[in-house]
Amino acid sequence: MFVCICNALNETKVHATLRDLSASGCDVTPAAIHRASGCKPQCGRCLPEMADMIDSHRTASAFAQAAD
Ligand code: FES
Repeated sequence: MFVCICNALNETKVHATLRDLSASGCDVTPAAIHRASGCKPQCGRCLPEMADMIDSHRTASAFAQAAD
């Protein structure tokens, strides 16, 4: 399923990109995900969903660290 229709970014691509950015210590934002994917936001409709995906990733990472 596409997250960003304007740039053809699907969930798999967005998840992989946000994992890579997070692992490299970058500040993960919707704009950073677009930049890392070689594009930039256009209509902006995907930004709230990307922000939710980033929040979910951060929560899952925090739980994983707490479980270690
Ligand atoms: S849907 Fe992502 S910029 Fe339009």
